[in-house]
Amino acid sequence: MRALCWHGKGDVRVDTVPDPKIQHPRDAVIKITACAICGSDLHLLDGYQPTMESGDILGHENMGEVIELGSEVTNLKIGDRVVVPFTISCGQCWFCQKGLFSCCDRTNPNAELAAKAMGQSPAGLFGFSHMLGGYSGGQAEYLRVPMADVGPIKIPDSVTDEQALFLSDIFPTGYMAADFCNLKGGETVAIWGCGPVGQFAIRSAFLLGAERVIAIDTVPERLALARAAGARTLDFREEDIYDRIQEMTAGRGADACIDAVGTEPDTRSGFDAVIDRVKVATFMGTDRPHVLRQAIHCCRNFGTVSIVGVYGGFVDKIPMGSAINRGLTFRMAQTPVQHYLPMLLQRIEKGEIDPSFVITHRAPLEQGPELYKTFRDKKDGCIKVVLKP
Ligand SMILES: NC(=O)c1ccc[n+]([C@@H]2O[C@H](COP(=O)([O-])OP(=O)(O)OC[C@H]3O[C@@H](n4cnc5c(N)ncnc54)[C@H](O)[C@@H]3O)[C@@H](O)[C@H]2O)c1
Ligand SMILES: [Zn+2]
Ligand SMILES: [Zn+2]
Repeated sequence: MRALCWHGKGDVRVDTVPDPKIQHPRDAVIKITACAICGSDLHLLDGYQPTMESGDILGHENMGEVIELGSEVTNLKIGDRVVVPFTISCGQCWFCQKGLFSCCDRTNPNAELAAKAMGQSPAGLFGFSHMLGGYSGGQAEYLRVPMADVGPIKIPDSVTDEQALFLSDIFPTGYMAADFCNLKGGETVAIWGCGPVGQFAIRSAFLLGAERVIAIDTVPERLALARAAGARTLDFREEDIYDRIQEMTAGRGADACIDAVGTEPDTRSGFDAVIDRVKVATFMGTDRPHVLRQAIHCCRNFGTVSIVGVYGGFVDKIPMGSAINRGLTFRMAQTPVQHYLPMLLQRIEKGEIDPSFVITHRAPLEQGPELYKTFRDKKDGCIKVVLKP
């Protein structure tokens, strides 16, 4: 089959690789009908995620048609259309039983390696390094889905591929970001990053009762899409974000601050962003937490900082003094996708949100390598790429 494979920093290629096969009675194989490139894939492209190996198949936002089933998968049938969560979860362990699917402790065969780096291991993920399981991703014609009796959700005919696909990751992730803010109605939520995840966070914050969303970025079409959802927007290259948020909240700060940027902020967003970039380039650090620092400072006393932008290792110069003295709550996670899926599918079916609003580029798999760069460089108005193998 054809697949998008990682071959090193900045090097994604379309390769011909062996078709996936059933390896375990709980596996399924799906024929991919749509998959997407995520901001998290850019961390792989840019070489920020350790333990990638040349030839690894990328892609964790996947959906398709079931074409083969292991003997223990009884809830799916050949021909079902399914969306596959990016988190691989057994459904039975201590964490899965509590709905904490992204920390399933049975799906990362390299858990020891992950625990060495992180203290404990999270779940295995599709297409996201060997430390996180070494599972092949779905930017390909076919995908093996382990634990297929737990992860994939069946999509009704009334919902199109483009409406359903983002249930695999960015819709639940944006929703979780807003959910973490514990909104009661009437709050001001500030959201850094108007990429695909930020866009879903904005809409979810409104769905959950925020009165006002302040969305921060610098890319004109992303800011425009945020405004289309009802957000007030700030451009970090034109305004001082802290000063403006103080002004807009009568000097109190935002009730909740969402970091939907993560470890690769624009170096034009501040002096510390440049210093972090230099530190990472010279192996003096692993991460670039400019946005996290700013989100902490802009959060009101006893407010919540909700982090969904991904960090990989150790973050320097985080103002913990500010956080503890002012009683901030920190929430963060790789999304336990399965926890949110049924409810979010219902919201789509009821017409409360149509996730396809975020798509700007549709293309065959063969154009993947080029579109990785278009998405990374935010060229050609690109906000979200969907590949149809
Ligand atoms: N927690 C999870 O489960 C999960 C799931 C999916 C994605 N993510 C992470 O979410 C983050 C965003 O993903 P995406 O797909 O939207 O990526 P993206 O790269 O398209 O979007 C990031 C946006 O942040 C903007 N930005 C850069 N510096 C900024 C700054 N200083 N202030 C405000 N905005 C700034 C960029 O212009 C860009 O529009 C990534 O780190 C990704 O890894 C996490
Ligand atoms: Zn993702
Ligand atoms: Zn589990």
